[in-house]
Amino acid sequence: VPSSRVSLTVNGTRRAVTVDNRTSLLDLLREHLGLTGSKKGCDAGACGACTVLVDGRRVNSCLTLAVRLEDAEVTTVEGLADGDRLHPLQQAFIDEDAFQCGYCTPGQIVSGVGCIEEGHTGSQEEIREWMSGNICRCGCYVKIVRAVEQTAR
Ligand code: FES
Repeated sequence: VPSSRVSLTVNGTRRAVTVDNRTSLLDLLREHLGLTGSKKGCDAGACGACTVLVDGRRVNSCLTLAVRLEDAEVTTVEGLADGDRLHPLQQAFIDEDAFQCGYCTPGQIVSGVGCIEEGHTGSQEEIREWMSGNICRCGCYVKIVRAVEQTAR
């Protein structure tokens, strides 16, 4: 199988990895870089558990080919906190009790950060629409939306 070398920045650190050309960004993160915060729910673009930011935009990392990310800037859930200080949205998820099993939470939080940075937080309906790619099987949507809304204020 052909492989390629890709150099990209992940959570502020420059990384260079040789990967099979079919490798998804999600597998690059989890299998090659040991960043297992991004979750593999469906591996098919349907659940949002794998959401990361690429050059500031939300993507499903399971649908993104790693070899296309030369020089990209990737932010995962591991890159959101500032040392011991949680990102305000991470703190809001705790304060609002916005998770049960937690499996979707990394994707929800990264997606929520993207949603806030994109400015799609004018109302609960708008947040719900722009977070609709992130599925929570425990049904914590009300609290997730509230956490995003609180943080955006
Ligand atoms: Fe990527 Fe479900 S694992 S969208």
